[in-house]
This record gives sequence, C-alpha cells and structure tokens, in this order.
Amino acid sequence: MRSRDAHGSLAKLTAEVLCFGFASAAILAAQPAPQPASIPPPPMGWSSWNSFSNTVDAHNVMEQARAMAANGMKKAGYVYVNIDEGWWTGTRDAQGNIVVDPNQWPALAPGERPGDMSNIVRFIHKLGLKAGIYTDAGAAGCSMYPDLGPKYFHAGSEGHYHQDFLQFARWGFDYVKVDWCGGDNEHLDPAVQYAQVARAIARAGALTAHPLYFSICEWGKNSPWTWAPNVGGSPANIWRTSGDIVPPIVAGHEHADRKASFTKMLANFDQGIHPQAQHTGYYNDPDMMVLGMPGLTEEQNRLHMALWAISGAPLIAGADLTKLTQAQLSDFTNPSLVAIDQDPAGLQAVKVSEPTPGVQVWSKPLAETGKRAVLLLNRTPSAASVSVKWTDLGLTGTAPTIHDAWSGESLQASGDAYSTTLPAGDGVLLLIAGKDLPAATYKPSEAAGEVLRTHPVRFADVRARPGLARIQIVYRNPGPKPRFATLQVNGEVVTTVAFPPTRTNPASYVWIQANLNPGDSGNTLDFSTDCDPGPVIQSIAVQ
Ligand code: GLA
Repeated sequence: MRSRDAHGSLAKLTAEVLCFGFASAAILAAQPAPQPASIPPPPMGWSSWNSFSNTVDAHNVMEQARAMAANGMKKAGYVYVNIDEGWWTGTRDAQGNIVVDPNQWPALAPGERPGDMSNIVRFIHKLGLKAGIYTDAGAAGCSMYPDLGPKYFHAGSEGHYHQDFLQFARWGFDYVKVDWCGGDNEHLDPAVQYAQVARAIARAGALTAHPLYFSICEWGKNSPWTWAPNVGGSPANIWRTSGDIVPPIVAGHEHADRKASFTKMLANFDQGIHPQAQHTGYYNDPDMMVLGMPGLTEEQNRLHMALWAISGAPLIAGADLTKLTQAQLSDFTNPSLVAIDQDPAGLQAVKVSEPTPGVQVWSKPLAETGKRAVLLLNRTPSAASVSVKWTDLGLTGTAPTIHDAWSGESLQASGDAYSTTLPAGDGVLLLIAGKDLPAATYKPSEAAGEVLRTHPVRFADVRARPGLARIQIVYRNPGPKPRFATLQVNGEVVTTVAFPPTRTNPASYVWIQANLNPGDSGNTLDFSTDCDPGPVIQSIAVQ
C-alpha cells in the first residue's frame, strides 16, 4: 500500500515538474534568497458596539480596557480598545470642531479637562493598549438606538474630513472605523468617499506623526474588496463584507438582551471570503466577534473562533470582557488559533472541497513552507464523515504531519487523506505540515519591464493548476514606505498589492492568491503603478 502510494506520488511529481518547469529557479539560485516582507497582521482588540451601543462612556470603556489588560487577552495580542457609535451626538462648535459631553467623557486624572477625548486615550495607552474611534463618511451616523435615547442626525464627518481625522490623531487615537449609514442615505459613491477619507487620514497622520489604522464599514454593499485595497493611497485597511451579526436594538429589547445568532455568524463567514483581495496587509472583515455573547453554545463559540482564524479576519471582540467565562477566554487566547489568524503570509482560507452540500473543507496557506490550516466543517443537521486529501491542499502525496490546532494532539492519516466524523453543526481545525507541490518561477517578459513606472511588468504564458493559485512575488523596494502596484490578470483588474520596504534585504517577497485559467492556456499577469518610483518586481512563483 505504502510503496504504491510513493510510486504514484513520484509519477505525479515528475509530471508537475514537466508541466511547471524549474528553468528560472536555477537562475534565481545564484542570487541571495529573498526574505519575507513584513506586512501588518489583522487587528486584534475589542469594540464597544455589540455590548454597549450608545451607552458607551468613559466608565465602561475603562472597565473593558482594564479587563483586556488583565485577563490574558493583551498577552495573547489583543490591543485595540475601540469606541464605536454613541460617543458624541453631532454637536460642533462655531469652528466646526466636535463637542463631546463632559459627563460622558470626564477628566480621569488630575489636570485633565472634562469633555476631552484625549483623557480616555491616555488611560488606554497607560495600560499598554491602543485606542480606536468611530465616525461615518456621510453627514449622519447610523443612530440606530431608538430605545436608548434620541436619534442624532449629524454624527458623521462629511464636510469635516480633514478637521475630524486630524482631531482624532491629535487626541491620540490609533484606529478609526468609518461607517456608511450617512453616505448610503445620501447615495454617495463609497469608492470616491472612502478615497477622500483615506487621504484625510494620511494627511492627519503626516501632520501629527500619529498614523491611524483605517477600518471601512460599508457592509459589502458595493463590493469593497474590489476597491478598498490601497483606497486613496492608504497603506493598511480592513473592510466589512456583511451586515452586523448582532442586529441593532429594537423596541422593547435592552442592550443586555442582544443575542448572537449562529446562523448569521456563519453567513458572515461566507460573505467575508474574498481571497484575491486579502493579501499584503489588507483584510476582509466579517464583523466584530460575538464569541462570549448570549446566544452561542460553547462548541459554537469555538467554531466561531476557528472560522475567524482561518479567514485571517480581524479579531475584534464584541462581548462584555468583564463577564467572559474561562472557556470563552481560552477560545479568544488559544495560541495556535491566534497564530493561524495572524499568520505572516496574510492570506485567507479557500474552500477546497464540498463533497456533499454543507460538508466542507477549507484551507488557509500559512507562511511556513508546506503548512496549511485546514477546517473540516459540517454545516448539516446530522453527523457526517469528512475527509481531506493532501492533493486538495496543493501538497505532494508524501504523508504530512497532522495536529488538532486546538489541543495540539497529533492525529493519524489514512492513505492519502485524513478522515473523521463530525457532529452536526461542528468543525475541527487542523494544522497540516507536508510538502508543497513544486512552483513554477517566471521572470518578466522583457528585461526592462522590471521597472514599473512607464509600462506594466508583464508575466506571460503563466500556467496554473485548477483552483486558486498561490503566487509569491519577489520584489525590491529600497524606499522607506510601502509602494503599490495594481495587478491585472488576463486584462482584468484584480487588486492592488502593497510592497513594503525591503530595507537591507536584496529582495523580499509577498504572497497573493489569484484566479488563473488552469491547464495549457497560459495566463498574462500585468503589474502597473502610478507610484514614482514603483516597486521593482523581479519574478513570480506560481503554486
Ligand atoms: C453599523 C455598523 C455597526 C455599528 C453601528 C453603529 O450598523 O455596521 O458595526 O458601528 O453601525 O450604529
């Protein structure tokens, strides 16, 4: 049995080498090995919205920040304490500056002035954490809290972008979420509006030397994954891909009764999968987590964490952190789950098989060679057996090692697959370490084409296997800041890729995933840029 498998693998491997070739790899071998680029991982933290909505104030934010600093979450990497809508009511002074309620945001230390948001920022920073704030790209915010107070109609930043983002940076905030209720009501174009927001954020960062992490909240209505990467030249951002998991408060329901829905959480996971847009520090955002909120069982909480980790989603908790059980805390802080989420390749899982409806295999390629995080998921109402084959994961037939990601327990393969039976509505997350199928390396079609500025760098006749191709891009950027290039595949714009500084390395590489035509019909990949100078793209390796 074993030798037949080995023989089969060898034959397959030989075929792969013939199809994909190693010619250019030999040329590259003489050069120093390129190093992985350092890209921002998905943000980790907490947001006030799910648990406090517009009752947010200094008191509950301080309590949550203290909890995060002390309960092991900070140690596990959670850092942002984000204040969502409800922190101001739309009042401005004669110069258009935001005015906040001094009772909601009092002085917190001697010498501080009530009604100054830098008080709460200072408190959060003293705990070694970072602070986030919220606004809307339109004139109004969402104001969705009819039970808990009057509706406020001017709590957005339209007409005040430069002023507000500069104010946020001056207050010391590190992160800003920009919602779309106002923009949507006014029928504005989100790509245009968020580009202006991004430029205002970049300007505020430059003026204060205090960059703001940029979170777009447009719920996926206008396909933000097609325009949000590098919108307005912003170096890092995330974008929501769906509506809220927890619905807004409705008449008769206090915020404490807000219930998380397992079905909606799964739907948000599905809507968040856009692997071609998720790379080089840009992330799809399936919403704040509901882990630890009323409504989910312990198993569902664990599955929720696994789904967000395999998505490489922002891990922004929405539960009241002072009320988490030990089991919920362990879910949030499980080191291998957090590491899967934060993996430095920055890629997203793709569904590699669904042998029967609702029985699914998801695979996230990790930065380490031959490593995958694999989720076996049973979404059906009855127990189901599920298998993953190495070949579905882009690995050779060589038996990999398999571990349960939650427990670290080592698991046994049978033949060319791992199989197990899953209860209804449950999943298992695996760490699989095998051998990658060989990659084919391509150089730009013309030698001079390496330098992007005036004409695109073209990689022609690029061959691919079926499924989403994983592509390593080797480049140089000797500048101090990321440079950007737009990728077109077979003439269609796919995404904008960020190329961080290569610093002292002769070359670096980043990873993307792209949909190429499989088989013999070669693909054309063009990189172009408006940056002057742009990145120098040296080669791509396609797996
Ligand atoms: C929208 C967003 C939520 C939250 C609320 C605030 O619904 O999607 O995440 O920010 O607005 O009103």
